[in-house]
Amino acid sequence: MTGLAGVTRSLAGIDGPALAHLHRLVASWGPLADLCFADLLLFVPLDDEAPEGGDRFVVVGHVRPTTNQTVYRDDVVGAVYDATERPLVAECLGSGTIVEGEVELGGGEGRLQVLAIPIRCEGRVVAVCTRESMPALGRQPGELERTYLSVFHRFAAMIAEGSFPFAAEDAESEEAPRVGDGALVLDAEGRVTYASPNAVSALHRLKVHVNAEGERLTDLGLEEVAVQTAFTIGAPVTEEIDRGPDVTVVLRCLPLLEGRRATGALLLLRDISELRRRDRLLVSMDATIREIHHRVKNNLQTISSLLRLQGRRLTSREAKDAIEESVRRIRSIALVHETLSREGSGEVPFNDIVRPLVRTVEESLGSAERPVRFKVEGDAGRLPARVATPLAVVLTELLQNAADHAFPLRAVAPSPAPDAASPPEGVAGPEPASVGVRLDNDGERLLVEVADNGVGLPAGFRLEDSRGLGLSIVRSLVTTQIEGSISMRSPLADGRPGTVIEVHVPLVPAHHVVR
Ligand SMILES: Nc1ncnc2c1ncn2[C@@H]1O[C@H](COP(=O)(O)OP(=O)(O)O)[C@@H](O)[C@H]1O
Ligand SMILES: [Mg+2]
Repeated sequence: MTGLAGVTRSLAGIDGPALAHLHRLVASWGPLADLCFADLLLFVPLDDEAPEGGDRFVVVGHVRPTTNQTVYRDDVVGAVYDATERPLVAECLGSGTIVEGEVELGGGEGRLQVLAIPIRCEGRVVAVCTRESMPALGRQPGELERTYLSVFHRFAAMIAEGSFPFAAEDAESEEAPRVGDGALVLDAEGRVTYASPNAVSALHRLKVHVNAEGERLTDLGLEEVAVQTAFTIGAPVTEEIDRGPDVTVVLRCLPLLEGRRATGALLLLRDISELRRRDRLLVSMDATIREIHHRVKNNLQTISSLLRLQGRRLTSREAKDAIEESVRRIRSIALVHETLSREGSGEVPFNDIVRPLVRTVEESLGSAERPVRFKVEGDAGRLPARVATPLAVVLTELLQNAADHAFPLRAVAPSPAPDAASPPEGVAGPEPASVGVRLDNDGERLLVEVADNGVGLPAGFRLEDSRGLGLSIVRSLVTTQIEGSISMRSPLADGRPGTVIEVHVPLVPAHHVVR
């Protein structure tokens, strides 16, 4: 079992509402760990009937404090304990009250100071939350530590009474302030009874330079709506306060409840001016990036038009073809930039590129005696520009090769013997010429397969030895830029004529940091 996600009905008494309650607790207990300078663990009793059950508990949640060292350097989620190892948890579950004491850590690692808090949901104790600390790791107690701890104990009482986590918790965002960002403690009248040093700094950013203690927010010239709302509805409220274009402080008010009444609040403050500035910058960067892609596309199109004009003036067939191939390669890159200029996310739905690529090759075939049918199946998904650009060039080459080499019939002299096209007596006519592109993205790797039912590769063909420019470009892009692999085979597995080329594209290259 791994964490809360693995908790099922096989655990004693954890039904839907209780599970939702525990999920909310784990989503919002970060500030509590900070307030008590200690690790918080969530224990759920195992079902008596279950194979492992009977007075046993499993740890399904853990949060470390950002204000102190952790007791648990290793992951404890998933650990199972019995009542003799964790007597306080058993006692707390049985009595439904907060109990405090010490437990001996295995392996002579010392003694743990434990506060076990019953988690009540709809009047029933469904699990236990423990605060676990080692006195040796303790901070020097000062006013801040004493204040935070006393606020923690008020939250602990709320957990035991069933009013924390808040029923109507607004989802905590990434920007939600933590205790270390700045904390004010308010009394039942909304007066500041304590301001942490970081809170004082945040207030300075809001141009509040007087001593906040004993004052209400309005006395300090700050909006009090968030606080009043939090007191009234008994749930946390978050608000952003701006001072001019450059200063933004986010304020989160967590009411402290007794029964249903708010007897005070914890107000967390965080200066997010830098984050906001970055957001604004990103928005304008996004527009700039699109604009740049648009311009790159336009420039590439100009280059390919210039090349094409030049090609028209040439007389040598070989030179004309070479220019035409270059034009095609440049156009396939332009296509990626065009799609990127629409997306703005740095990623492209690659199928949007495959279709126009296929169309270009189709058009280049002109009027062949033997029409070639193109088919695209599967979904390549969204690909980063880093992969999409080289892959577009690779696909163009492979499609063009199928068109150029797989069906040489169309290249033969325009005046064949009258009966050359009709198959000999008793032999079925050739299958219609077709080229299929198959795309398959499983999230970790992408398969791009180009298959034709043409004449197949020349005898003794080896990709490594092939000297053609097209396949050299393909090989180099696939191995160096895409960091993938390529294979060509012919004839097909079941002996049918044709060529299959597979390109494997890893989507999470090893050197890319997964965040
Ligand atoms: N789909 C295919 N069917 C048959 N032969 C192919 C196919 N793709 C590539 N080839 C062979 O591989 C050779 C090298 O291709 P390439 O490097 O693109 O150069 P080029 O297309 O300029 O000849 C081709 O000349 C052809 O003989
Ligand atoms: Mg080629």
